[in-house]
Amino acid sequence: MNTNCINITSISKENIQKAAALIKKGGLVAFPTETVYGLGANALDGKAVARIFDAKGRPSFNPLIVHVANIKQAKEYAEWNETAEILAHHFWPGPLSIVIDKRQGELLSDLVSAGLPSIALRVPAVEEARQLIEFSDVPIAAPSANLSGKLSPTSPEHVAHSLGNAVDMILAGGSCSVGLESTIIDVTENTPILLRPGAITKEEIEEVLGSAIELYQDNDIIDKNKDEIEHPQNISKASSLAPKAPGMLSKHYAPNIPLRLNAVNILPGEALLAFGSDRFMGIEGGGAAKDLPQEQRCNLSEEGDLHEAAANLFAMLRKLDDEAYKAIAVMNIPEKGLGVAINDRLRRAAAKE
Ligand code: TXA
Ligand code: MG
Repeated sequence: MNTNCINITSISKENIQKAAALIKKGGLVAFPTETVYGLGANALDGKAVARIFDAKGRPSFNPLIVHVANIKQAKEYAEWNETAEILAHHFWPGPLSIVIDKRQGELLSDLVSAGLPSIALRVPAVEEARQLIEFSDVPIAAPSANLSGKLSPTSPEHVAHSLGNAVDMILAGGSCSVGLESTIIDVTENTPILLRPGAITKEEIEEVLGSAIELYQDNDIIDKNKDEIEHPQNISKASSLAPKAPGMLSKHYAPNIPLRLNAVNILPGEALLAFGSDRFMGIEGGGAAKDLPQEQRCNLSEEGDLHEAAANLFAMLRKLDDEAYKAIAVMNIPEKGLGVAINDRLRRAAAKE
C-alpha cells in the first residue's frame, strides 16, 4: 500500500471549498457520509462520472446514487411524487436513497443512471457532505469509495487503501456513524419496493407511509433469470423487476478470504467475527474463542447492539481479512431491525460469485 502521496485532508470549511473547486473542475473527491465514504464527482459532467467507474473498476451498467443538499435540489432532477415527498420529509437528511423517475430535460450525465429512466437520490446527514454539495453547486454522484465488489469504506484510511491515487482528495471526517450503505427504496410504481435494506428499516418506512411496501428478492431473481434463460416461457413479474437493482445481483462487499455464516463453532485456522457473548464458541478439536490470539477475533457488539454492530461491520471484516486465516467464522446475527441489513451484506460477502 502506498498512501504517502494521497491527499487525505482534514475537513475544515476551507478544505471543503477546495474540494468543491475540484469537483467543479471534473475531479474525484472522497467524502464522509453517515453511511460509508462516497467517491464523488459532478453528476452533470459525463467525463468526471466516467472517472468514478474507472477508479472503482465498476461495471458501467451499475448506476450511481446522486447526492443533493436538500429536497429542493432533488426536485430539479426528479419527477417528484407524493411518496417521495413523505419519505424525504421524514428521513432526509439521512440514510435513505429514493429511486424515482427522472425529470424531463434534466441535465444529469446518462452514465449516472446507466441508461435507466430513473435515478437514485439522497441527502446525506453529515453536514460537511451537504456543504460540499452546496459549495460545488452541482449534484454529486457518489458510489461507496472502494474498488467494485469489495468492502465499503467507513474511514478515510479505508478509502486511501482501496483507491490510492485514483482519487484527487479525501476529506477526512472520522468514522461513519451508521457504517452500512443507505436503504434504497424505489417509488416509481404505486407500491414502493425496498431494493436494498439499510439503517432505515422496511417497518419504519411502512409506518411513515401507512401502507405495506414490497421487498425486492434479488436472490430469487438471479435464480429466476437463470431459469428464464433456459425456459423463457417462465418469464414472471419478478423478472420485470430485475433491471431495477442492476448493481445488486452478484457477490458484493467481499473480503478476500471466505466467510462462514451462522457459525456455532470455530474451525481450526479460522478467525472469529462474534456478535454478543462468544463464551460458548468452541474451537473444533479443542479450545475456546478466548484462546484465539487477539488479532484473530473481533466482536461486532458484545452487548448484542445491532447499531454498534453495523458501525463496526466493514472495519472488522477488513481487520480479519488476512490470508493467514482459512476463513472468517461469523456468529448468527438476528434477522430483525438493522440485523436485516447486516445479514444482507454478510450474505453478499459470503456469496461465491
Ligand atoms: O450509503 C450509500 O448509499 C453510499 C453513500 C456514499 O451515499 N453510496 C452507495 O453507492 O452505496 P453504491 O454505488 O455503492 O450503491 C448504489 C446502489 C447500487 O446498488 C445501484 O444499483 C443502485 O444504488 N441504484 C442507483 N441508481 C439506481 C436506479 N436508478 N435504479 C435502481 N437502483 C439504482
Ligand atoms: Mg458500493
